[in-house]
Amino acid sequence: MNRKDLLGLYGLSAEEIAEILDLGLFFKSALKRGEKEHGALKGKSVVTLFYENSTRTRTSFELAAKFLGAQVVNISVATSSVQKGETLVDTGKTLDAMKNDVIVIRHPMGGAPKLLAETVRAHVVNGGDGMNEHPTQALLDMLTLKEHFGRLSGLTVAILGDIRHSRVARSNLYGLTRSGAQVRMFAPATLMPEGLAREGAVICRSREEALRGADAVMGLRIQLERQKAGNFPSLGEYAKYYGVDEQILSEAKKGALILHPGPVNRGVELTSGVIDGAQSRIEDQVLSGLSVRMAVLSLLSGGEGK
Ligand code: CP
Repeated sequence: MNRKDLLGLYGLSAEEIAEILDLGLFFKSALKRGEKEHGALKGKSVVTLFYENSTRTRTSFELAAKFLGAQVVNISVATSSVQKGETLVDTGKTLDAMKNDVIVIRHPMGGAPKLLAETVRAHVVNGGDGMNEHPTQALLDMLTLKEHFGRLSGLTVAILGDIRHSRVARSNLYGLTRSGAQVRMFAPATLMPEGLAREGAVICRSREEALRGADAVMGLRIQLERQKAGNFPSLGEYAKYYGVDEQILSEAKKGALILHPGPVNRGVELTSGVIDGAQSRIEDQVLSGLSVRMAVLSLLSGGEGK
């Protein structure tokens, strides 16, 4: 992959996505064998700069960088000079001056990683920006599917939940369609944005229509503040009319995979039976996340790390 930064999947080719996933599968197999030490980032440094909360993304980037041999620093925005009014660009220039090599950024404003990437020498990886993109989340979802099915082309993936505010949904739509999969989407009308059909999504009018014959079903987290904003009447009604339970899941193909980016609101997007059931790959997604982040860091830094 001949890129300085990974800002989103919108502009990535099918070949670039396949290259990341293939290397991610290599690292995932190695991790399953207990092999954690690789040398692709030996002598390099990685800074995680998260302006929003995170468990999975931040921890897995930190572990990925360490397993590849890098020095890692986590900046806590709450106790950094950001609180004194330092701009994002000035923070980036400060890290450049320290000869840092990679910045992984999460920011509430869509476009912040792009702004940073345009002003720093370091490689920039988007760990989620506003409602725009979360590229490594979609890559880990795609890696989980590719490992199970052996391909992405020809698969049908149903995405249900708060599509409007979801950077995960957007990145999955771009990455999966570019890789030859069909993406169906279903949400309450208040949580379904316009324009995604133009990007290749099949917009569905019921859960049944979205799930019928699907190879995988992805629930998206309902952000509880959306209820206060009147986007749906109550969590109970959301679960009843838009959530996934065992009965609705039977519309999908036998053995269809269940995915969720986490954190999950149990009993809202998915019932506990579905989350903990045999078809769930939610825990496996976490290992895929570590693996695909190792692949991204390794490829951006110019080495495969095998
Ligand atoms: N899926 C995801 O981005 O989780 P975190 O917010 O915990 O990083």
